[in-house]
Amino acid sequence: METPRILIADDDKKTRDFVAAFLSYKGYQVFQAFDGQDALQKLELHDVHMVVTDIMMPRINGLDFIKQLKSIRPEIVTIAYSAFANFEMTANLLKAGAFFYLEKPFNLEELQTVVQRGLEHQALQSKSFRSRPCIKNRALLENIIGESEKMLSLFEMIEKVASSDSTVLIQGESGTGKELVARAIHDLSNRAARNFVALNCAAIPDELLESELFGHVKGAFTGAVATRIGRFEMADKGTLFLDEIGDMKANLQVKLLRVLQNRELEPVGASRPKKVDVRIIAATNQNLDQMVVSKAFREDLYYRLSVIPINLPPLRERTSDIPLLLNSFLEKFNQNKQRQVQGFDKQVLEMLTAYEWPGNVRELENLVERLVILKGSGMLGVQDLPEKYRGGHSIPLQVEQMVLPDDGFCLNSAVEEFENRLILQALQKSGGNKKEAAELLNLKRTTLIEKLKKKKLLTGSGPSM
Ligand SMILES: Nc1ncnc2c1ncn2[C@@H]1O[C@H](COP(=O)(O)OP(=O)(O)OP(=O)(O)O)[C@@H](O)[C@H]1O
Ligand SMILES: [Mg+2]
Repeated sequence: METPRILIADDDKKTRDFVAAFLSYKGYQVFQAFDGQDALQKLELHDVHMVVTDIMMPRINGLDFIKQLKSIRPEIVTIAYSAFANFEMTANLLKAGAFFYLEKPFNLEELQTVVQRGLEHQALQSKSFRSRPCIKNRALLENIIGESEKMLSLFEMIEKVASSDSTVLIQGESGTGKELVARAIHDLSNRAARNFVALNCAAIPDELLESELFGHVKGAFTGAVATRIGRFEMADKGTLFLDEIGDMKANLQVKLLRVLQNRELEPVGASRPKKVDVRIIAATNQNLDQMVVSKAFREDLYYRLSVIPINLPPLRERTSDIPLLLNSFLEKFNQNKQRQVQGFDKQVLEMLTAYEWPGNVRELENLVERLVILKGSGMLGVQDLPEKYRGGHSIPLQVEQMVLPDDGFCLNSAVEEFENRLILQALQKSGGNKKEAAELLNLKRTTLIEKLKKKKLLTGSGPSM
């Protein structure tokens, strides 16, 4: 464990040196400050765990010092001492967040006990406070965005399982980040220096999957012109990610089960098995439970794979992460695509938070990419959102359904026709009232009248103003 760092603040050099000498002797790393002001500067410099402070000091007194300290670094444990112990002072100190108040003169054993308890208290607190895994791991988990309860417990889970060699089964809807999580587990494991090999079981024709997984010897089948190692061997001492495991056919399920049980495999056409040391992470967006019931997936294999099950929540179950995801991807695509889109306006954020996201994070990421490219700069508003994301808040214009005829079309007359229809509909809806019609079209009344004149739609016998 790291040596605790303690800062002692006291304007009285003799007391300070004395306390410092004692705590150093007890094995702590000790720093000194000559008053509260000085202490506030040295806090950050030495990144201390604890402050032991006198109360009566010039410039900032101990009480104000503790208040300021707690407002910037609430996790630092503070112990205060003074010769002026009245009830009110003690109460104020504790209210300000001091951990303990010692009355001068105190004996050094007493101080030692309080320091010890303070550090233990802090260790406990930082554990329960800890919303994120520790810094080292955090960097590796950084590209998994999320701070909702569900994601925080996912991070914790990833950290816990990474170091074990157990087989992991990741389940979740499409686009929830299954592959991302599988990689994070590998990166955090003892196997990180070895290969992470991914194989999508659904993307490879059934007849090739076996040799893809286990390899084959030369001449094993027509076309096997050379001996080839499979993904299992490529992943030796590393991790094999079997994606879309639900799509694996029954005969291969048996073979996979055998590898998991015996830790050895048989390349196609080989006469002897080979030992392999591979950690398996499997993933699927199908309901394997149900597939087991309907006998589409082997029960024994299911249990072998789901030693540690991880279920990724769909985005609609962690809506609090949506603004964070939107902004992170905005930043990313602004950079990648050299755009300067400033952000999402409030209404857009509301609409996107309310949206169901059937394609989960992947869909969100793709949407942001598209919006950033098309918008280029400025704020994204409702008008920039494709219809389906607006949750019925929009004008139901079926623009998406317009199709350019094969032999082309005159854009100008199409636009004009479009405009005419909408203007006439607005006039109909408003019962001929131009002010209301203009409002429906988000135009100024005068602009509408201009347009009507130009289009010769404004006739004497027409609707009245
Ligand atoms: N929490 C997240 N933070 C950042 N990006 C994410 C997150 N979840 C998913 N993504 C991104 O969304 C996309 C889809 O993620 P991934 O491929 O891991 O999903 P999946 O669950 O494997 O989906 P499928 O079942 O369709 O294969 C990727 O571009 C990934 O980087
Ligand atoms: Mg995937």
